Amino acid sequence: MIIEPRMRGFICLTAHPDGCAQNVKNQIEYVKSKGKINGAKRVLVIGASTGFGLASRITSAFGCDAATIGVFFEKEPSAGKTATPGWYNSAAFEDEATKAGLYTKSINGDAFSNEVKQQTIDLIKKDLGQIDLVIYSLASPVRMHPTTGVLHRSTLKPIGNTFTNKTVDFHTGVVSDVTIEPATQEDIDNTVVVMGGEDWSMWMNAMKEAGVLADGAMTVAYSYIGPEVTEAVYRKGTIGRAKDHLEATAFDITNDLKAINGKAFVSVNKALVTQASSAIPVVPLYMSLLFKIMKKDGSHEGCIEQMQRLYSDRLYNGCEIPTDEKGRIRIDDWEMRQVYQDEIAELWKSISTETLTENGDLTGYKSDFLNLFGFGFDSVDYSAEANELKMVASIK
Ligand code: NAD
Ligand code: NA
Repeated sequence: MIIEPRMRGFICLTAHPDGCAQNVKNQIEYVKSKGKINGAKRVLVIGASTGFGLASRITSAFGCDAATIGVFFEKEPSAGKTATPGWYNSAAFEDEATKAGLYTKSINGDAFSNEVKQQTIDLIKKDLGQIDLVIYSLASPVRMHPTTGVLHRSTLKPIGNTFTNKTVDFHTGVVSDVTIEPATQEDIDNTVVVMGGEDWSMWMNAMKEAGVLADGAMTVAYSYIGPEVTEAVYRKGTIGRAKDHLEATAFDITNDLKAINGKAFVSVNKALVTQASSAIPVVPLYMSLLFKIMKKDGSHEGCIEQMQRLYSDRLYNGCEIPTDEKGRIRIDDWEMRQVYQDEIAELWKSISTETLTENGDLTGYKSDFLNLFGFGFDSVDYSAEANELKMVASIK
């Protein structure tokens, strides 16, 4: 099959197995080039197939020589349809990890369900005994609550007032105004149920009860803060309420894990092009300005650079983990540099379709977006038959 990108709105309907494999290999090479990290050896990554979760899994495996179990929700290839990128990424990861002699198993299913939690615990008991590090990196628009059976939907809405700001259609480069009506209380509550900390604490509780958390086990979930221009729709919007809840949950989990000396952290990460973030209004325009400035200054990072730095300079730096006044790990420190933020705030006032080519890195944004689906890699011959990765035996 010859596979080409097929765009629909903010998503791409196809994915390229060879390109996804190249993306994974590039990330592995980057981690290897930075040298070994003295980190956890038995790692569970929930949300392991794309974005920050995939980069965390790669850093654990190829930076720390860790055995990894990855949980994700992806579609395998079927007649005439490609798999989702996360499926190809995971197949490629399994392939590379196995070649490197590293233990690797993956569970493809709904992480919010009791069944997948139990399946994961059974696998840990059978193969690894216990886990030293749990990365929680889910991003989902929906969650079926495991006790009530209710399907909750998250939203990206402002709270209190209607919000109007500039946004960009990154496919066309057209800058326009977007207006979003404020959330209802129900929207807020649903978003907190989907993207807040309840499921994270359910995972940690189930694992603790089952005795599969090692003494001193650590767990890390990911959050975002961002600039003033996106505040109304992000940090002070519905998703921000969920992040507040997630951040508060870290303290509850640390408390619950006292008996085993466990600790939960939230790491605040940089804004990056992932499937989840492309769908947020205003954010892609901010990101295209940010990327231009950070690239010019030599401080730009992608998911893998962020995760490698999280592990080497924060989690496993050999001394105490540095946190902010709210107990959060900050690897958005470079993004939030005042000089960058001042420059963006200034540019923002006059940014338009005409000035974006000059002031923003739309080309970089688009290329990152294509890369997510395995497109745009020089080393891949897209006119050739794609090499459908064989279903890796360990993806359940
Ligand atoms: P992503 O979309 O790339 O990854 C989401 C992962 O969750 C995938 O592995 C997917 O398979 C998995 N998943 C989704 N629903 C699932 C389900 N029901 N069961 C099992 N797996 C499921 O997202 P990302 O951007 O890497 O986001 C990960 C975390 O990082 C989120 O908490 C996000 O808010 C946070 N974050 C993202 C950014 C950003 O700019 N992208 C910045 C800071 C923090
Ligand atoms: Na992820």
